[in-house]
Amino acid sequence: MRKIKVFDTTLRDGEQSPGCSMNLEEKLEMARQLDALGVDIIEAGFAIASPDDFRSVEAISRTVEHCTVASLARCTKGDIDAAWNAVKGAKYPRIHVFIATSDIHMEYKLRMTREQVLASIAEHVAYAKSFCDDIEFSAEDASRSDWAFLAHCCETAISAGATTLNIPDTVGYSTPDEMFALITYLREHTPGIENCDISAHCHDDLGMAVTNSLACLRAGAAQVECTVNGIGERAGNAALEEIVMALKTRRDYYQMECGIDSRQIYKSSKLLSNITGVPISPSKSIVGANAFAHESGIHQHGVLANSLTYEIMKSTDVGIPQNSMVLGKHSGKHALKDRLIQLGYEVTKEELDEIFIRFKALADKKKSLNDADIEALALSKTRSFVETYKFLGHVITTGKDTSNIASVKIRVGDETREEVAIGTGPIYASFKAVDLITGIDATLDDFSLDAVTEGEDAIGEAVVKLGYNGEQYTGRGLSTDVIEASILAYVNGINKIAAVI
Ligand code: KIV
Ligand code: ZN
Repeated sequence: MRKIKVFDTTLRDGEQSPGCSMNLEEKLEMARQLDALGVDIIEAGFAIASPDDFRSVEAISRTVEHCTVASLARCTKGDIDAAWNAVKGAKYPRIHVFIATSDIHMEYKLRMTREQVLASIAEHVAYAKSFCDDIEFSAEDASRSDWAFLAHCCETAISAGATTLNIPDTVGYSTPDEMFALITYLREHTPGIENCDISAHCHDDLGMAVTNSLACLRAGAAQVECTVNGIGERAGNAALEEIVMALKTRRDYYQMECGIDSRQIYKSSKLLSNITGVPISPSKSIVGANAFAHESGIHQHGVLANSLTYEIMKSTDVGIPQNSMVLGKHSGKHALKDRLIQLGYEVTKEELDEIFIRFKALADKKKSLNDADIEALALSKTRSFVETYKFLGHVITTGKDTSNIASVKIRVGDETREEVAIGTGPIYASFKAVDLITGIDATLDDFSLDAVTEGEDAIGEAVVKLGYNGEQYTGRGLSTDVIEASILAYVNGINKIAAVI
């Protein structure tokens, strides 16, 4: 069995995609989960991009215990300095240097000749190497580059000290056969490549990111770059969970293994969706709500007779909880803690106290709480940022042919403030009342409301995306009362804005 490395770029390429931005706390929580998932390398960000990006890469470098931490850098000394300063505290630091190598990118984006690009690779990979042993070089738009020139770029990067060569299909244009042939060509035409890891980095514009990545691995790539839930620029990157489960389920065919603990997949996927507020499509492979559901009678009959008739994987292999136990309003903190641990959520004492308060409030409204309820509570734990505004309560007057009036009460420091507003609907009226209290003028870019558990007393989760000063902030709220969930989400988003102004 060949052991391949999993390079996760959820926090860099993934976070770059619209609606997926995360704050420092959220990135750290995700990075810890990626560490527990067993990825080999976390690309923690693009340190030069902003002071916030730098701080997150630096904090992740100091936090994760097992994996290598990489920061992206263009071929400039300033980028490389920032990348190194951000990752140097990591146990295993990596600098990831890139430059475009396709004619179209060199001519129109870089305005550089082939010779200038080669010189830049030689200079900047060597500069990065002066700080760090572990250097990844990426040839952006590699799949649309001239193959002979690409091989020359790779050879130059190797001579300057690169230890990993990444071959991105940046615009998701290639087919699996082409990616297989390209990796094979590079292996045959690049002196020194046998001492480097070849890496695949495929985008999903034509829906082939995962198959293209697997083709690269079959052609000899030693590393695969991917994101949880396949988030990323445009149509996204190759989905980590799909690659990992393809390798595991078709071990007989691929003859490869990786260090991922597949039972952490579901939790990683849920956590990311919860943090970003980007829902997972029900039919999404591996982690979608329907991925393991058998609806038709014929399938159900087959599965009951012998699960292998229609099941190629077990839901437990990816860590989907089995809904085995219910808790109720008489359950104590110990029972809640035990259940959280069984579901894979290690919580601190403070977190447990906070979840327990919400557990009790929910148990007062719902007779019994199943695994999905407990998981929803765990995922929506208040992340430790300053809670400037604490929602205390609301009263709504609503109905057909009448004004929607909301009165909202919020604690600010030691003071309790209350405001009343009229809106086109009860939720909008509530948001306006919150605005009157906080004075923060954010735009409501997106709002969604979903039932996250089943049944008549399902928990509703509201997600808001708030725009402020060119940045987007995600707020979440959870309650069996949809208006309360919406106000909680709105206040949660406003608190994130308040934390940075
Ligand atoms: O898609 C791409 O080419 C990239 C590189 C910067 C690695 O993300
Ligand atoms: Zn990319």
